[in-house]
Amino acid sequence: MSSTTREVILGVGAGIAAYKSCDLLRRLQERGYGVTVVPTPTSLNFVGAATWQALSGRPVTTQVWENTHEVSHISLAERADFFLIAPATADLIARIAAGRADDLLTNLVLASDVPMLIVPAMHPSMWNDPATVANVATLRKRGYTVMEPEVGRLTGTDSGQGRFPETSTIIAALDEISGNKRDLVGKRILITGGGTREAIDPVRFIGNRSSGKQALAIARNALLRGATVDLIAANMDSSSLNGAHVTSVESAAEMRAALAISFPLCDVLIMCAAVADAKPVRSAIEKIKKSLFTSIELEPNPDLLAELGKSKTHQIMIGFAAETSELRESARAKLLAKGLDVIYVNDVSGGAIFGKDTTQGMILTRTGADIALKEVSKDALANLLLDHANRQLG
Ligand code: CTP
Repeated sequence: MSSTTREVILGVGAGIAAYKSCDLLRRLQERGYGVTVVPTPTSLNFVGAATWQALSGRPVTTQVWENTHEVSHISLAERADFFLIAPATADLIARIAAGRADDLLTNLVLASDVPMLIVPAMHPSMWNDPATVANVATLRKRGYTVMEPEVGRLTGTDSGQGRFPETSTIIAALDEISGNKRDLVGKRILITGGGTREAIDPVRFIGNRSSGKQALAIARNALLRGATVDLIAANMDSSSLNGAHVTSVESAAEMRAALAISFPLCDVLIMCAAVADAKPVRSAIEKIKKSLFTSIELEPNPDLLAELGKSKTHQIMIGFAAETSELRESARAKLLAKGLDVIYVNDVSGGAIFGKDTTQGMILTRTGADIALKEVSKDALANLLLDHANRQLG
């Protein structure tokens, strides 16, 4: 299971509805899922490997012996959090029911033990055939979720039960089996991440060691929980994030300008970015020669969070701090001084946390008890902070 992105295998059977799974793939990505598409060989007659590759941004393989250096079916199965087969044809359902392993997709079905959602689409007479009825019953007995196809017009003039469901119906079914909380639908969450850079000259800057991983974890989990997410990204790689509105900035001044636009619209601000506390008084237009590069005169940057704390109307505000000692005392002082609702203080003693997938520290709120966290994943912290924000939103 992945500690970063939630991973889905999207199996595609040889039905005309395969083209509708292109939209499904996009919608899964927008929800923050990483998607690996595994078509059956014959399904490529409907949608080709190049399309799946371009849409998913990942290699696409149909047989176990292709691309073995890139994709091993066992590691692919182990990486997945969920398995989705859409569309599933009568033949594919029969092969899965029989436990066959004659292409990569059916191998993966056997090799994986994650929740499985199967979305059949076929002609009504095939769906109602006793063989298909028995095969679907077998799959359901095995614990797989098999959706009911929709009733309506099919390709051509026929109609009946066999239509591929709407993308939103499939996503809702996936949310149900994946246990995703959808408690942030309709909420706009603004997140800042990374570290600002303050230019000394065109080549040099004052920066810091923030990787942006915590902000990415918050953005990803907020998306999974249904929020609208705006990310102001300072010098961090957000290419793995699908579905958020990302504004890239370099300096504290640029971040301030981006916040001025997005903050009034948000319900929750999570200020995860490491904003440089000071910047050079002058940023040279030309590169400074090393013989003249002997000192830098600095001036303080405004405290963006404190400024917003003064101007806020309805927003819940969550700040971060990094301390090496006296965590609780310093964090509580910042919580009050900056007008925050919640603060998370990272324990960075010994250079811990930067660039890692885990964190340790303490969550402080205005009223509740302090919560100490020891070596938790950044995803887990993200969800705890989102829980706090949501509670405060009422
Ligand atoms: N912050 C900000 N603007 C700044 C500096 C920090 O908005 N110019 C925000 C950060 O995004 C973070 C919190 O304030 O949410 C951190 O507060 P800060 O007082 O800078 O904490 P430390 O980095 O721990 O600073 P100090 O060295 O003052 O202890």
